[in-house]
Amino acid sequence: MVTKVIFDTDPGVDDTAALLFIHAAPELDLVGITTVFGNAHIETTTRNALYLAERFNIPCPVAQGAGQALKRRYEGPPTFIHGVDGLGDVGVPETISRTVDPRPAHRFIIDMVKAHPGEITLIAVGRMTNLALALEEAPEIAGLVKQVVIMGGAFGQNGHGGNVTPAAEANIIGDPEAADIMLGVPWPVVVVGLDVTKETFMAPEGLARLVREAGDAGRFIAETSELYKQFHIDRHGLDGIFMHDSCAVAYVLAPELFTTRSGAMRVATEGIAVGQTIQKPDSVNFAPGAWDGLPSQLACIGIDHEAVLELFHQKLALLGN
Ligand code: RIB
Ligand code: CA
Repeated sequence: MVTKVIFDTDPGVDDTAALLFIHAAPELDLVGITTVFGNAHIETTTRNALYLAERFNIPCPVAQGAGQALKRRYEGPPTFIHGVDGLGDVGVPETISRTVDPRPAHRFIIDMVKAHPGEITLIAVGRMTNLALALEEAPEIAGLVKQVVIMGGAFGQNGHGGNVTPAAEANIIGDPEAADIMLGVPWPVVVVGLDVTKETFMAPEGLARLVREAGDAGRFIAETSELYKQFHIDRHGLDGIFMHDSCAVAYVLAPELFTTRSGAMRVATEGIAVGQTIQKPDSVNFAPGAWDGLPSQLACIGIDHEAVLELFHQKLALLGN
C-alpha cells in the first residue's frame, strides 16, 4: 500500500536528503511539501524547496509556511551548519520557475487532510509551527490524520541530550509552544529525536556510495553536505554526518527498525530547560501532574542504524537507475 505524505521541512542539508529519500521510495506518495523557517529564513527554505522540486522532478505542490514562531523572535539561521543559502552554499539559483501554492502551509495541510481523511502521514522535520497553526484553525484534523512523524526533541536516551542547549533540540526550542501544542492533541505522533538520529551518521564512504549509485540526487546530497560535514568534525569530532531528518522518513517506511516508548509528552516553555521534551512513560506511575489527560505518543528510544542507512541507500539508488 502506498502512503500519502506531506513533508513539512526547512531545507536544510539533511532535509534535502530526507526529501529525496521520500521521492525515491515507491511506497510513499509525496502529495505536498510545506516549508517553515529554521535552517534558513522562510523565503530561503521555500526557494530551496521549489528548487529541489524543479531539479528532481518532484511534481507535488510547495506551500510556504510560517516565518516565525508562535510567540518568539527567530534568532536567525545557523549558517555555520547549513550555509547562508541553507543548502551548504552550493550556489542555488535565485530564480526558480516552479511557483508556490497560493495557500499558506497550514491551510494546505488542512485542505489535504480533509480531502483524504485517514490517509495522510505528516512528516515534520522543522519547527512545529505550521502544524500548530493548522490545529488552531481546524482542530478536527487531529482525528483525520493517519500519523504524524516528527524529527525533533531528545529524551536523554543513548546518552543524547539537546543540541542547542544541554536540554533542547533545535526544531523544538525554535518553537516550543508549537511543539507542546502538537504533542498534546489526540493524533498519533511518533517522535524521532536525537536519541536515535545521533546514532545514525553517514561516513564519507556512505557519501561516496551515494555519488556512485544515486545519480544526480546522490551527487547533490554529497555536494550540499560538504559544509555540514565540516560542522560535524568541528563540533563533534565526527567523520560523518547525522541523518536526522531521514530517520523520520525511515520510521514511516520501516517502523520495525525502531524501538519506541509510549507516554504523554510535554515541552518546557520557560526556564533553563526551555525546549526540552519530557515524556511520562505509561509504564511508570507518578503523582498527578502536567502530563495528565494528554494522549500517549511514541518516542523512539532505539534504532537499527545500520539497517536504516542501508534502506536509505537502497531507495536512493532507485534514482540512479
Ligand atoms: O536538530 C536537528 C534538526 O535541526 C534537523 O531537522 C535539522 O535539519 C535542523 O533543522
Ligand atoms: Ca530539518
